[in-house]
Amino acid sequence: MVRSEILSWLRETGRRRLSSLWQRANNVRRTRMGNRVHLRGLLEISNHCTRRCAYCGLRRPNRRLRRYRMTASEIQACAVHAVRCGFGTVVLQGGEDPGIGREWLAGVIASIKRATPLAVTLGMGERSPDDLEAWRRAGADRYLLRFETSHPDLLAHYRPDAPADAPDRPALLAILRALGYETGSGMLVGLPGQTWEMLADDLMLLRDLDVDMIGVGPFIPHPGTPLGRAPTKRMAPKDQQVPADGLTTCKVMALARILCPDTNIPATTALATLDPVHGYELGLGRGANVIMPNVTPMKYRRLYEIYPDKVCCTEQDPNHEKLAWRVLSMGRSIAAGRGDSRSYLARQEESRSRQESTG
Ligand code: 5AD
Ligand code: SF4
Repeated sequence: MVRSEILSWLRETGRRRLSSLWQRANNVRRTRMGNRVHLRGLLEISNHCTRRCAYCGLRRPNRRLRRYRMTASEIQACAVHAVRCGFGTVVLQGGEDPGIGREWLAGVIASIKRATPLAVTLGMGERSPDDLEAWRRAGADRYLLRFETSHPDLLAHYRPDAPADAPDRPALLAILRALGYETGSGMLVGLPGQTWEMLADDLMLLRDLDVDMIGVGPFIPHPGTPLGRAPTKRMAPKDQQVPADGLTTCKVMALARILCPDTNIPATTALATLDPVHGYELGLGRGANVIMPNVTPMKYRRLYEIYPDKVCCTEQDPNHEKLAWRVLSMGRSIAAGRGDSRSYLARQEESRSRQESTG
């Protein structure tokens, strides 16, 4: 699919045409990934963050937020709980928190790997290549790092203070991949100032990055952030501004599935927050094959407030059994095991056979 086609799908409003897009994405998902849905336990280990992204409630200047950092034994207990829930992966996520030390997290990862069969995914933001290497050596399998937007000016405006000498996110993704991580990336949909053209570029970048996992979610304004207080200040002209809604997020997910057929794509919590009743189903029917139920203890979960009213903190929070039931009632099944992406497995196979032929 070429860029002009992506752009015209993004701008499409016709119901019939869109339903053909959903069908196409769903067919690609079924053919390449099958009917099984992977459940990953999401564990939010620290809400400290040194950055001040204009869209995110964890930004350092948000003094209203009570900060926490889970202890190693709390994390270990939650990982064991994830195994009991039948999940094959635990995702350790946090802000960019220097209080999470290299050796400390390496120890946590190693003890999860010793005690459980879980794949460990990290989402700890931009860390030094030495940290990433130490965590990989300790046994971490995957790393999630969204580029948020491919447009440099928009990114610099909304994510200030990028250290001049540090690699940017696409460069870090290349480093992660060279370290042997399965890598994931993605972007926000509907940031004020984000145009359809920029979003088409985001999708092209996703394809070029050749990532194994793709996470996309709608921007949800947080009142404790600059963007939440003045969400319309930097809006693009009306016919160019991408809306931060479920429909556009689904278009992006469907296009991501078509462009990157072998990646794991979650139906995200942000999508389910916009539409608690149908959000997961919409995502799963339009390209997604993963759900990430939250396994963070409730007292911390409420404090991991990237945006308000996260579905996993409200009455509508489906526990993993309810979620499994919703998956089954779509005619899909729950996958067992780690659920590595096909693209990653193919890469592993390729490097194994290269080693055999040279060794
Ligand atoms: N709305 C939706 N998603 C957000 N994120 C941060 N702030 C918001 C928001 N206000 C996303 C970013 C980040 C991920 C952890 O959460 O894409 O990478
Ligand atoms: Fe920190 Fe990530 Fe939020 Fe930015 S998006 S403030 S890096 S947690």
